[in-house]
Amino acid sequence: MGSTIIGTGSYLPEKILTNADLEKMVDTSDEWIVTRTGIKERRICSENMSSSDLGVEAAKKAILDAGISADEIEMIICATITSDMPFPSTACIIQSKLGLDNIACFDISSACSGFIYGLELARSFTNNGCYRKILVIAAECMSRVTDYTDRSTCVLLGDGAAAAIVSHSGDTDGIIDSYLGSSGKYGNLLYIPAGGSKLPASHETVSNHLHFMKMEGSAVFKIAVNAMSSAIKKIFERNNIHAEDISLLIPHQANIRIIQGVARSMGVPMEKVFVNIEKYGNMSAASVGVALDEAVKAGRIHKGDLVCMVSFGAGLTWASNLIRWNKDD
Ligand code: UT7
Repeated sequence: MGSTIIGTGSYLPEKILTNADLEKMVDTSDEWIVTRTGIKERRICSENMSSSDLGVEAAKKAILDAGISADEIEMIICATITSDMPFPSTACIIQSKLGLDNIACFDISSACSGFIYGLELARSFTNNGCYRKILVIAAECMSRVTDYTDRSTCVLLGDGAAAAIVSHSGDTDGIIDSYLGSSGKYGNLLYIPAGGSKLPASHETVSNHLHFMKMEGSAVFKIAVNAMSSAIKKIFERNNIHAEDISLLIPHQANIRIIQGVARSMGVPMEKVFVNIEKYGNMSAASVGVALDEAVKAGRIHKGDLVCMVSFGAGLTWASNLIRWNKDD
């Protein structure tokens, strides 16, 4: 009895927003952005697209990669903090756009940790065979909640989506274990103040830029390094794994200095760490999913490899997992 990833996909919008573009919008520089974050450019979705559109494109690629028919999917879990609208769920919208009907669909809100949370949910549902195939999606239009007058956040964020098909399997390889954590007391370090039941949209919330993401960057930075390192340690200890057993570490792509700090504290050399932050910036839940898909397609993951994914985000939330990759190259 087990659960395994049988296909992955990702979708990045075509439009590129470079550091040079941002230099014209806010008081920043390419040099500051690259040295403080590692980001060179990010993708921005077109006006007529929303998170579900990005998610659908990623899902179609994952379905193709898995070699299954869309009809075989029994559940859609969508991780997003930029849902198309408050309700219905983006998962239901994606279901309809994929032409599927009468299956379980719901969203999860775990910010940047959402893809790993989603994979763990899918593992729980498929492990005992109750569900055979689940589509996990992370889709984010972070540009829609970015204040392009706030230089401390607008240089960081980008749009994108990732998907994975999680399947019930007969062997114990695949998604071996996950560790999920959160600490709500830090919620005010990273949030969108308005647009929910506490502070509904009004002229005032719009004019005060309260529908955009706010972040206490340096406080979040310190907690991120500790929380991700501790999430990796916990999952290693629980499974009697050591840093040298890992073929690839796939961390959330929020800041290259956070990634380097986590790798250093875990004793994992940077050659074994997947980094694509320079191309996309922070895409919230989509970051680790896109990284997983790119790592597979770039030949950085082979059958039998032990992969560790780790993430961290608003909530605050954090998550790690261990995957013994068992899909043929
Ligand atoms: O995905 C969820 C998790 N998110 C994260 O993990 C993000 C965590 N935080 C970070 O990555 C970093 O804290 C930032 C990249 C957001 C900021 O880097 P930092 O090294 O922590 O900078 P800082 O906030 O301490 O600011 C240093 C200086 C400030 O100027 P003063 O006060 O020293 O004069 C800022 O005003 O850098 C200034 N600054 C900028 N300068 C040029 C902040 N943003 C910019 C900018 N361009 N874009």
